[in-house]
Amino acid sequence: MMEISDFRTTRMPLNHGAGIMPVLGFGTLIPDAAVTISATRGALEAGFRHFDCAERYRNEREVGEALQAGLVAGGIAREDIFVTTKLWNTNHRPERVEPAFDASLDRLGLNYLDLYLIHTPFAFQPGDEQDPRDQNGNVLYDSGVTLLDTWRAMESLVDHGRCRAIGLSDIALNELLPIYESARIKPAVVQVEAHPYLPETELLEFCKEKGLAFLAFAPLGHGIKPGPLEDPVISAIAARVEKTPAQVLLAWAVQRGTALLTTPKTAARARENLNISALPEDAFDEINGIQTRQRFNEVVKTGSPGFIPRIKS
Ligand SMILES: NC(=O)c1ccc[n+]([C@@H]2O[C@H](COP(=O)([O-])OP(=O)(O)OC[C@H]3O[C@@H](n4cnc5c(N)ncnc54)[C@H](OP(=O)(O)O)[C@@H]3O)[C@@H](O)[C@H]2O)c1
Repeated sequence: MMEISDFRTTRMPLNHGAGIMPVLGFGTLIPDAAVTISATRGALEAGFRHFDCAERYRNEREVGEALQAGLVAGGIAREDIFVTTKLWNTNHRPERVEPAFDASLDRLGLNYLDLYLIHTPFAFQPGDEQDPRDQNGNVLYDSGVTLLDTWRAMESLVDHGRCRAIGLSDIALNELLPIYESARIKPAVVQVEAHPYLPETELLEFCKEKGLAFLAFAPLGHGIKPGPLEDPVISAIAARVEKTPAQVLLAWAVQRGTALLTTPKTAARARENLNISALPEDAFDEINGIQTRQRFNEVVKTGSPGFIPRIKS
């Protein structure tokens, strides 16, 4: 169990000197443009310094606008925030990686990224259609590129100083291992769904052993009910320690050595999700003892997003 005094300022060093990542991250998977702007601004004002984006969320421009305005208003330097975005499945071909990276950077209004992730290990048919399907609705995959080909192109972005760290998302340990072994620049971060119903302990242990940062998404189970937010063990601990169930789940995630992403839509919730403190050891152990197992996002099975509404083209 990690001993942490102030979660708000806790940061994880990334491997090969690739920077330090605040453990409490704000996720921008928000379908509405106006809510994206207000929530991002609220998160920055509340104290979040880690922002997780993706070309697939189709709102990098709004996130960028909110960050630029918030940095100026708050007198915060670009170097004081940590910004990630992700390469989408349709851009896995090596020659598409740098143009996709440049387009994301342009939409975000930034000149470097702290972290660039391969969003999923699935390559889709290359092109502008983010969700390519055949007439029967089946996803069109691209068998002409391997994950290692894409990884080599990610490495060259680091070589050219375009981003400080690279990593993978929605990946299982058996898929991560061959990339880890062949990589010239080892993945710095792995982003996957994790909460007490999906602890991903084996992957977490691997990350700790090799010095990769494990970044949990959906630490509140994406707010889906029933789910971890309503779990009786979590509610009882919340009452006992006088915190909210969300604060208990987030504290557990940090104490077990992961960084995390949440998506509070209001400034009040952003403050709540930052105002977390260490749980007593017995409470931490009780959460580890929860036996319910549930994955909320099926993206790892097909590469098709589980939480992003599908737009018919
Ligand atoms: N790599 C991937 O494939 C992938 C997939 C999914 C997500 N992500 C990233 O991870 C981020 C976080 O994921 P997530 O949105 O699923 O995380 P989450 O924080 O587990 O779930 C967000 C939901 O929790 C609710 N919530 C937030 N704070 C709360 C609080 N204090 N009390 C009660 N409910 C609360 C929100 O409700 P309201 O809507 O009512 O505010 C929202 O419905 C995303 O924004 C995205 O950046 C990545």
